[in-house]
Amino acid sequence: MILCVLLAVVGLGGVIAESPPEATSCSHSMTESTRVLESHDKIEKVMETGELNPSHYPAQRAAKVVQHYLNTQYASPYKIFGLHKVIRANAEDVPNSGRKYQLDLSVQEFVEKKIKGECSAEVLFPMEHSHAPPQVKVSSCENILKINTSVQEEAFFQEQLARPNLLFASNIPDSYGHVAPEHVPFWHLGAVVSSYVMLNESTQETLYNMAQVANVTQQECADSSLLKYEYDVLLHDMVSQDIFAWKVLFTWSPSEGIKVLKKEKSDYPLENVTTT
Ligand SMILES: *[C@@H]1O[C@H](CO)[C@@H](O)[C@H](O)[C@H]1NC(C)=O
Ligand SMILES: *[C@@H]1O[C@H](CO)[C@@H](O)[C@H](O)[C@H]1NC(C)=O
Ligand SMILES: *[C@@H]1O[C@H](CO)[C@@H](O)[C@H](O)[C@H]1NC(C)=O
Repeated sequence: MILCVLLAVVGLGGVIAESPPEATSCSHSMTESTRVLESHDKIEKVMETGELNPSHYPAQRAAKVVQHYLNTQYASPYKIFGLHKVIRANAEDVPNSGRKYQLDLSVQEFVEKKIKGECSAEVLFPMEHSHAPPQVKVSSCENILKINTSVQEEAFFQEQLARPNLLFASNIPDSYGHVAPEHVPFWHLGAVVSSYVMLNESTQETLYNMAQVANVTQQECADSSLLKYEYDVLLHDMVSQDIFAWKVLFTWSPSEGIKVLKKEKSDYPLENVTTT
């Protein structure tokens, strides 16, 4: 069952496959992608410098951080960015600072799948002992960031403000990879807030995707012009194959965007993940 949940990662994260979450292809694609990544990892334990193979792990890991960064800056429940392809990658050690990657990548907007754009970015992973999150600078990103979803956002926002009671939902997607249509925007919102966590948690040795929104709990918000939610999300690191549960409290509105109020790792017992 856990593999089925994880397939959704691939669908939403868009690293490896472009196929939507489908329970049937579940264990197959997961094992395949895992095998490919593992074999890359063995070869590339030593950190390469200079031009990198764009499809190999080090370039992919750095590019994934750019994806998370773009989501924290520009995403919404109707606009999410996924890594489509790394075009060019270069790595260098910066003395007394860390390791810097220069990347050209193709980014895909997930909700309106057809739209892709090329971005250039720099990712600096600080030296290990500093425990600081990676720093990302995006120097260019054509058309893709300008996608205007304000009409859909406003409609969703008004619909949620008008709810007779506060929302509670669990297991998005469910263990068959299915997302109920009315939960799709909440799934997307989960992917965006997960990027806030994943951006800060990423190192050169991680490749994070959101596996599942375990719970969405809407909360009363003193400011009636905002929606407030507490999310339990499950994040999957493809390198260690570990799953982490995080609690994220945030507000959202079309005009203010997402404001993360609190995020903390929870000690949720992850053997529970395999249940429906
Ligand atoms: C997005 O579209 C809406 C409605 O068409 C328009 O009012 C708004 O100004 C646009 N926003 C941007 C940033 O272009
Ligand atoms: C990012 O993670 C570090 C630990 O790696 C933590 O000390 C810091 O508070 C986090 N920053 C944010 C903004 O969450
Ligand atoms: C989701 O909510 C249920 C019910 O409150 C709780 O038992 C469970 O631990 C939550 N899941 C996570 C991952 O925190």
